[in-house]
Amino acid sequence: MNDLGKLLKARIEKTGPISIYDYMKQALGHPEYGYYSRQDPFGEQGDFITAPEISQMFGELIGLWAVDVWVKLGCPNKFHLVELGPGNGTLMADALRSARLAPDFLAAAEIHLVENSARLKAQQAAALKNYEVSWHTDLPDLTGAPIILVANEFFDALPIRQYCFSKGNWRERLVTAIDNKFDFVLSTDVTPLDLASSGKEGDIVETCPDGEQIVDRVCGHLSKKGGAVLIIDYGAADTLVGDSFQALKGHKHSNPLTSPGEADLTAHVKFATLRKIAAKHGVMVQGPTPQGRFLERLGIEARHHLLRQKADDTQKKKLDAQLRRLTSASEMGTLFKVMALSHNMSAATEGFGS
Ligand SMILES: C[S@@+](CC[C@H](N)C(=O)[O-])C[C@H]1O[C@@H](n2cnc3c(N)ncnc32)[C@H](O)[C@@H]1O
Repeated sequence: MNDLGKLLKARIEKTGPISIYDYMKQALGHPEYGYYSRQDPFGEQGDFITAPEISQMFGELIGLWAVDVWVKLGCPNKFHLVELGPGNGTLMADALRSARLAPDFLAAAEIHLVENSARLKAQQAAALKNYEVSWHTDLPDLTGAPIILVANEFFDALPIRQYCFSKGNWRERLVTAIDNKFDFVLSTDVTPLDLASSGKEGDIVETCPDGEQIVDRVCGHLSKKGGAVLIIDYGAADTLVGDSFQALKGHKHSNPLTSPGEADLTAHVKFATLRKIAAKHGVMVQGPTPQGRFLERLGIEARHHLLRQKADDTQKKKLDAQLRRLTSASEMGTLFKVMALSHNMSAATEGFGS
């Protein structure tokens, strides 16, 4: 058992089984042993690769999407440009580079990055050294101006709770320690859930309290000050039932309860839940639409064509592979979905629709 495992085991022995939420929060975010504090998770050498790390085209098109939203907002002379979980800072750097075609957009943007890993914050500072940036460990209270917010593979990294339907009731799924191994166990307490009536024996439903709270706050801001939010992540458009708690290590799935802090832990984003939260605030929703189709509508093929014209044969092959990886249904094109939230229906239409 590794050091974080020993800490979690000692806690379980003292106070009883812990929630998946607590387990995941520590495994990902522990300041010393947590996954994002320990190592570089991105790229071929790491555990996974994200869209902005695959190709500059991804961030560039999102930059143009943001400029379009800003124009539809009436070109305000101040707005908050926010990214949640910016990783290496690549998406924001590429987005700001493509937004150079609209210098007034850049002048109006107050850039805020929400990041809780000190190691990744340093990476972001290096990638964005030419810009004035504010960092936050949680979504800040942004006042007085519209917001344009982007979150790529952020919500899937937030801790979840799971509930299992057992003998007529929903019970929280917890993590216990037996000998030197972690295992799941159901709580003896019954949890009153909205979904209680739809349960079948063994059904599992997941909630993401932190993600839901962030979307609730962002929607409150959208309804008061206007703007748009782009959420790119994997998860089903409608389904709420199913166990999606998973671990990825060296680009392969592994057991999420083995070696906490050494594998990336994620869960599918529940787009249906986010839609409900938006509706409560009267915020408009577009999508979720498949990432491939979204990028095609934003013009990824034209951008690819342009980059190809200046490339040698090796670079051309690389660009073709990048395009395929981002858009093809057999790669990231369908698995990843894009959802936009905005204060009115016309603010975030680019990339959606037929
Ligand atoms: C899977 S990575 C995605 C990185 C980046 N968006 C990309 O696409 O390459 C998740 C990011 O969210 C950050 N993160 C995870 N949980 C967080 C939290 N609770 N608060 C702030 N940042 C968090 C991680 O440190 C990391 O930067």
